[in-house]
Amino acid sequence: MNTRVWHLQQDEESNRQDIEEAAACLKEGKTVAFPTETVYGLGADARNTDAVAKIFTAKGRPSDNPLIVHIASTTQLLQLVKPWGELADRLMKRFWPGALTIVLPVKEGAVSALVTAGLDTLGVRMPQHRTALRLIESSGCPVAAPSANRSGRPSPTLAAHVAEDLSGSIDGLVDDGPAGVGLESTVIEIVEGLSGEAIRILRPGGVTREELQKLGHILEESDPAGSIGPEAAPRSPGMKYRHYAPRGSVRVVDGEPKHVQAHIRRELAAASIRGERTGVLAFEEHAGRYEADLVLSCGSLSDIRSAAHGLYAALREFDTQGIELIWAEACRAEGIGAAYMNRLIKAASNQLQHV
Ligand code: TXA
Ligand code: MG
Repeated sequence: MNTRVWHLQQDEESNRQDIEEAAACLKEGKTVAFPTETVYGLGADARNTDAVAKIFTAKGRPSDNPLIVHIASTTQLLQLVKPWGELADRLMKRFWPGALTIVLPVKEGAVSALVTAGLDTLGVRMPQHRTALRLIESSGCPVAAPSANRSGRPSPTLAAHVAEDLSGSIDGLVDDGPAGVGLESTVIEIVEGLSGEAIRILRPGGVTREELQKLGHILEESDPAGSIGPEAAPRSPGMKYRHYAPRGSVRVVDGEPKHVQAHIRRELAAASIRGERTGVLAFEEHAGRYEADLVLSCGSLSDIRSAAHGLYAALREFDTQGIELIWAEACRAEGIGAAYMNRLIKAASNQLQHV
């Protein structure tokens, strides 16, 4: 398959034409990758089963992992999900458009059963990205879109990453420069607790726990109202898969900075004796302290947002340079740091070393 690429430029008129062409592809049941403020997504008309099936095939995605549907207006939402409560309403008003996916009871028959993977809920979000919104609006479709990477690879934050993974397997790609946050949206569901509605975070992401807390109670894992039995609402199925991983093996190291550095330096020395190609993902403040085949830093400890923005590109760069073993410094799991650590630990197949 030939993947058509639209490179958006400064020129408004040619952008408009490009977006209309891409939207026409979506309408026809084709797959089109596009930028959002989190990462690039691979879109298709959520109502069209053949179109949605192409997403799963192109990504090599397990069919039990549901897709997020992207909308451009709340009018569109009325056709997709059942009437929602007050908390969901407040969250939408505060965070949409934005990096928050809300899981709500789906209206029967509103989208292809492939999108929900057989669940009776639908994850929905309105992206805060002009091109994404124009594309969705102009297509007139609810747009199902997972991250536009091959399953298991780091999510794409540049059109070049999408091309690297999916060129030849998708119909189109709208290149509009780097994505914003660099990590995916926060996925939440609304739970009826003893004291009313509450939020359960299924996947940390661009909207932080601290921000959500201002609008509603967040259920903790230990919260009795938050415990789930076999009958209870499904958790985010995607979280069980190895995710976000480069080809090299990743080790995340947490602890006092001095101890972390000493540990990584020792391990580097041992690995270099074994002849392995080594890499370190360090915060800017410490990057100079390591000797490895590739030391990358995507930001300062005092600015985890910028580190988050560069994380996936860095993981891909280790691959490009054939790095076999990667040590990564941990940060505090606060604010956007919670999502950063979540993705890093997943890249490390759930291993976190405390030193
Ligand atoms: O930022 C994002 O969310 C990006 C951009 C493209 O919008 N999309 C994205 O999609 O990250 P994906 O498919 O890579 O991740 C979607 C996550 C998965 O963990 C999936 O299991 C979960 O959302 N999810 C989707 N629908 C769900 C549902 N009905 N119930 C629970 N979890 C759901
Ligand atoms: Mg993904």
